[in-house]
Amino acid sequence: MSERDFRALRASYRAVLLDVGTGDGKHAAHLARRHPDLLVVGLDANRDNMRKVSARAAANPARGGLPNVLFVWAAAEQLPAELREVAALHVLMPWGSLLRGLLGADPALLCGLADACRSGAEFLVTLNLHAWRPPVPEVGDRPEPTPDSARATLAACYAAAGWRLTGAHYLDADQIAELATSWTRRLTSSRNQFDVLALAGTIN
Ligand SMILES: C[S@@+](CC[C@H](N)C(=O)[O-])C[C@H]1O[C@@H](n2cnc3c(N)ncnc32)[C@H](O)[C@@H]1O
Repeated sequence: MSERDFRALRASYRAVLLDVGTGDGKHAAHLARRHPDLLVVGLDANRDNMRKVSARAAANPARGGLPNVLFVWAAAEQLPAELREVAALHVLMPWGSLLRGLLGADPALLCGLADACRSGAEFLVTLNLHAWRPPVPEVGDRPEPTPDSARATLAACYAAAGWRLTGAHYLDADQIAELATSWTRRLTSSRNQFDVLALAGTIN
């Protein structure tokens, strides 16, 4: 897509919601269906998982296509310059370098995401706490976060990058289901209990 085409597409919608690490894009497609006034951009460093949902979205709207969703193959560390003035930022169940960045180990990643947002943009991050049970390499020696520890320590890392953490809480089963991500569905079906910590706030 050319920059001009992107600008024209962008101009047709009230605001942009960016889903970073979108995976197979189900959450992005779900949001696009629910909010036809928003342009939803699903972005992931892995192109292949987005193919199916992207092809489906490109279909005729009468056949279930979604004109207001776009999938971008890029790393969160190198966002396309065209992605500006994002009004809402979602990062659900990050892993790899995205998880490391969201835990504060890569301030440049947080700053880069903040730069793509408009002032006052809302963010939602959901952390799969089973990444600490046992700990995956990306979490390093950081202990499993809790609502209290997120407010006490992570909030400061976030603040340094322009992210203001205003809420940290565990999600219940209904709230997890509401996210409509394939990843949570997969993990929920393989466990009696699935623990997710949600972090919410605004980008200054
Ligand atoms: C566990 S999956 C979650 C996918 C989706 N958010 C969900 O909940 O179903 C994590 C995703 O983050 C993506 N990812 C990891 N590091 C990334 C980075 N630096 N930039 C962009 N995407 C990244 C992976 O490719 C993967 O698709």
